[in-house]
Amino acid sequence: MSQTVLVTGASSGIGQVIAQLLTERGFTVYGTSRKPTGTLVPLDVRSDDSVRACLDRVGKIDVLVNNAGYTLMGSAEETSIEEAKGQLETNFFGVVRMVNAVLPAMRKAGAGKIINVGSLAGITAIPFGAFYTASKFALEGYSEALWHELRPLGINVTLIEPGFVHTPIGEKTQIAAKPLSAYDGVRQRATAALGRHVEHGIVPEKVAATVLRAVQSRSPSLRYRVGTDAAWLPRLKSVLPWPLFAVGVRRTFAV
Ligand SMILES: NC(=O)c1ccc[n+]([C@@H]2O[C@H](COP(=O)([O-])OP(=O)(O)OC[C@H]3O[C@@H](n4cnc5c(N)ncnc54)[C@H](OP(=O)(O)O)[C@@H]3O)[C@@H](O)[C@H]2O)c1
Repeated sequence: MSQTVLVTGASSGIGQVIAQLLTERGFTVYGTSRKPTGTLVPLDVRSDDSVRACLDRVGKIDVLVNNAGYTLMGSAEETSIEEAKGQLETNFFGVVRMVNAVLPAMRKAGAGKIINVGSLAGITAIPFGAFYTASKFALEGYSEALWHELRPLGINVTLIEPGFVHTPIGEKTQIAAKPLSAYDGVRQRATAALGRHVEHGIVPEKVAATVLRAVQSRSPSLRYRVGTDAAWLPRLKSVLPWPLFAVGVRRTFAV
């Protein structure tokens, strides 16, 4: 019996490539989208009803890949509470909602894998992306706690931490709606820099290959870093004095 995998946010970018690769490797894959076309299953991770309807349609799943997400840019001060909550609602509570929905069946089976697509931004902040950063830092802490809780129940939790990946995410970046002129130049530079780094990022196939590795492993690791930036920057952050590391981050984002 082939294993069933649910990949959230499979209409583009990393999720689409994960779904393609796992399908090629013989898994039964369900990919989701808020506006599904073809074989995609409807899902908005911000809605309890949508999550329930999606899982009713898909049935029992062996592997959940929480990939859906977007970027919100703007200074922390410019970002409204509503915009900040929206970012956390998708990137963090969307994961929580999906996990809570699949856990009863996984606990009953005494097996299952939960794979959360985190980010290098869950380890080192993106200036002018405070709430995207916060959502990915939150995912780090949540996934680590979940790992401890679910390990005795036979359920694996894994975080995939890519650096910059060449996907359409930059084109869909949401910008805080009420800008303050004090931040105009620097916000634009940081947003443009993020766009350039994504443009020159690694191919999503590398992330998908890592997800495949975690799915196929009998005992997957808690964390997999993907890309040279994701492999090295956390190490540099832990050894360099903060002012020195910060210079590198400020240069990277032109702030
Ligand atoms: N690209 C990078 O440099 C990078 C680096 C590190 C981590 N990541 C993470 O990788 C994940 C995928 O990003 P990507 O670069 O592949 O971006 P992408 O191409 O924009 O894909 C994002 C996917 O998320 C889905 N999505 C967005 N909001 C959703 C919601 N409320 N409910 C359900 N699905 C939703 C979108 O589907 P629909 O719009 O069709 O619903 C789309 O399929 C994200 O979690 C992102 O934070 C990306």
